[in-house]
Amino acid sequence: MTPSLWRRHVLPFTILLGLLALATIAGDYLLHRLNLVWIGRYLGIPGTLLIVGSLVYSLRKRKYITSGNPKTLLTLHEAGTWLGSLMVLLHAGIHFNAILPWFATIAMGVNVISGMVGKLLLARSREHVLGQREYYQLRGLSKVEVERAVFWDAVTLDAMTKWRKVHIPIFIVFSVLAIGHIISIFLFWGWV
Ligand code: HEM
Repeated sequence: MTPSLWRRHVLPFTILLGLLALATIAGDYLLHRLNLVWIGRYLGIPGTLLIVGSLVYSLRKRKYITSGNPKTLLTLHEAGTWLGSLMVLLHAGIHFNAILPWFATIAMGVNVISGMVGKLLLARSREHVLGQREYYQLRGLSKVEVERAVFWDAVTLDAMTKWRKVHIPIFIVFSVLAIGHIISIFLFWGWV
């Protein structure tokens, strides 16, 4: 990978993902330190509502609804799913009693990462690789030499494209697992 692909595209992605991890660890630590773990327990509800609310963008994109600026809705989708995931991660905390919600959490994590790959890496990285190819061609390198020069960037790009494709299928897995967890909790609480 060339340094600029790393610095200009992969680094912002790493920072945003790192922030999510850091905020989760710091938040969970504080909740435990201040004896407020019960708050974390309830964060599952607003977190889920935020994630569900941010799906308005998907409805708009697929034209199930026709009002709302798609660009604004996309920004809300990105911010809402990031913040909602943080709440759900704080909600999950470091408690290990049941396996189903942990699978839901893993699926959610993969979902967030694949979304961020699409948002922060894919389009600009594609441009980057195209630009690099053009640059080497203009410098008179042969086709084989050009391909060799951009090899690692092209491999990285290919991996990102695959990650992006996972976004919708993993969302379905996440939803099924999360709904299973929520229904079982509601049954336990006698809400259904
Ligand atoms: C309406 C939304 C939700 C409610 C009311 C809810 C409720 C709860 C409750 C009461 C617990 C504690 C269970 C226990 O102490 O044994 C719990 C644990 C947990 N929840 Fe949720 N939850 C919600 C959404 C979610 C979502 C969307 C995820 C993941 C994507 C999730 C992941 C977890 C995890 C990982 C745990 C810890 C399980 C364990 O103790 O092993 N929750 N949830």
